[in-house]
Amino acid sequence: MDNICVIGSGYVGLVTGTCFADLGNNVVTVDIDERKIEGLKNGEMPIYEPGLEELVERNVKAGRLRFTTSYEEGLKDAKFVFICVGTPSAVDGEADLKYVRASAQTIGEKMTHPLIVVNKSTVPVGTGDWTAEIIQSAQETPIDFSVVSCPEFLREGSAIPDFMNPDRNVFGSSNREAAEEVAKLYSPLGAEAVITDIRTSEMIKYASNAFLATRISFINEMSIICERLGADVTEVARGMGFDKRIGPHFLSAGVGYGGSCFPKDVKALANMALTHGMHPQLLNAVMEINDFQRKQIGLKIRELLDNNLEGKVIGLLGLAFKPNTDDIREAPALTVARTLMNQGAIVRAYDPVAMENVAKEMPSIELVEGPYEVAEGADVLVLMTEWNEFKNLNMDRIKGLLKTPILVDGRNIYDPDTMRERGFVYRGVGRGFNGEGVLATTGD
Ligand code: UDX
Repeated sequence: MDNICVIGSGYVGLVTGTCFADLGNNVVTVDIDERKIEGLKNGEMPIYEPGLEELVERNVKAGRLRFTTSYEEGLKDAKFVFICVGTPSAVDGEADLKYVRASAQTIGEKMTHPLIVVNKSTVPVGTGDWTAEIIQSAQETPIDFSVVSCPEFLREGSAIPDFMNPDRNVFGSSNREAAEEVAKLYSPLGAEAVITDIRTSEMIKYASNAFLATRISFINEMSIICERLGADVTEVARGMGFDKRIGPHFLSAGVGYGGSCFPKDVKALANMALTHGMHPQLLNAVMEINDFQRKQIGLKIRELLDNNLEGKVIGLLGLAFKPNTDDIREAPALTVARTLMNQGAIVRAYDPVAMENVAKEMPSIELVEGPYEVAEGADVLVLMTEWNEFKNLNMDRIKGLLKTPILVDGRNIYDPDTMRERGFVYRGVGRGFNGEGVLATTGD
């Protein structure tokens, strides 16, 4: 059992702190946002994450998890301090590190005993080094500390199981002993530990996310080729995925990747390469394909409505960037909605948990109670986020409610033949074959 202070109580901080508490440690989570901390003290979660509320409640009750706005209180008995603050994109694509800087500065000012400072935020390669410099220069009298990079690989929506069953954990430091101490905290999870230097650790995070984004853009490019040539990209991906060298994951074609990590991290890595005199051709292509994928959906809808969107009602199923989260950061649904509205369409939508966020961010989208309300009188129904509740809808009822039975499946969750048999004009992503040996572009 160790004493841990976590700086930042967003997705990463709150999940990390709560899971460490659940492993038996004493955790204090610090955030400068008073409302957030007040809410957490009253059991209100600042984010939607399955299982989090129960886990927070259990550990608060057991006395292992506390929340505060005071660094002094957080650092008081801590052996480890985890920096889990946000690193949003600055205008030029570079990661904005003001929160990391501020945390390092305050840790340096307030620390009273030796600490192991662990950075979990995704930061440009080299950040660990200057974090140490900031801490050191903020100290009034020199106190021993080490900086360890330990990137997070949690996915929103499955962050708790991801924390508890990691594929690996990465620990990077110039002080191997400190890295090993942090690795010990994770040892009850039984995963592979990669212990390395700090820059390599920081790079592992970027390279992992960039690789996953590349897989998505790869399959999305395949989807465009499939659609034109009359092949079905879902079957192509299945056929590829059995090859052990390829594997089945992250090969779902769709409306492109979104969220708080992939868009930001690919951009930041490309920017790092550029500022060091390199030309990141592949990363640039990955981003370009991802943008194009969103545009494609808009073009498809437009084409299905005889190139005229004026006054047309487009119903969107799902707004979050992926299922099981209320996160709408870089959500493809919002980009598509904006494009359609700019061309005169009325956009109506439903999402199981993201509507509150959308109402604040894009009030021009008409939000309704459920999927059937979305369909009522709509000219096209577009599936944007593959929530489970959209997989078993009464499609006959949906068809009856739509003004014209056009279904655009942005995540390929419906069976094209079944939908066509039911009388829908069906368009998926990269599903050119319509079951009768003709191209979908000439079919229907
Ligand atoms: C990601 C990484 O997976 C995680 O390791 C890192 O710590 C943070 O970034 P997250 O952003 O929560 O996690 O989402 P993820 O589940 O990885 O999906 C990212 C995006 O890719 C979503 O928009 C999703 O819809 C899209 N995606 C994913 C596809 O379009 N196709 C796929 O096959 C997989």
